[in-house]
Amino acid sequence: MKTNILGLPVKESELIVTDLNILLSNYQTYYQNLRGIHWNIRGKRFFDLHVKFEELYTDSQVKIDLIAERVLTIGGIPLHTFEDYMKNNQLTVGKNISIDEIAIRLIVDSLSSLLKIERSILDKSAAINDEGTNSMMSDFIKEQEKTVWMMRAWLEESL
Ligand SMILES: [Fe+2]
Repeated sequence: MKTNILGLPVKESELIVTDLNILLSNYQTYYQNLRGIHWNIRGKRFFDLHVKFEELYTDSQVKIDLIAERVLTIGGIPLHTFEDYMKNNQLTVGKNISIDEIAIRLIVDSLSSLLKIERSILDKSAAINDEGTNSMMSDFIKEQEKTVWMMRAWLEESL
């Protein structure tokens, strides 16, 4: 098995790069979804939600950078054009959402889709002992699951 300078198998790492680029693309949609609801939210909960959505998009911006830099670290090139992002997008694109419940529902649905992609990356990275990718996916999953819990508590839904 041919390994790279990090000791990771070359072929398998290329597959992980592809998947990380898919995650990156979908994260960009999540980020834009959050910007959209940050801007367009209306109603009596405006001040709370406007700030909460900013907190979430700031966090997702950090994660987008981490994903792209992980791609580079393991030998790939991160996607960076809207064209490529849209080709890979699996998330619902929220447009002109101003109603709080629809906005929160969009966050839950987006995170649910991102979690699926992350778990599938984790399967592959765990199989080759790619601990850097494993730990990144674990951190993302743990944080997003908690956000899903909080959003569903806000919606008064149970799992
Ligand atoms: Fe703002």
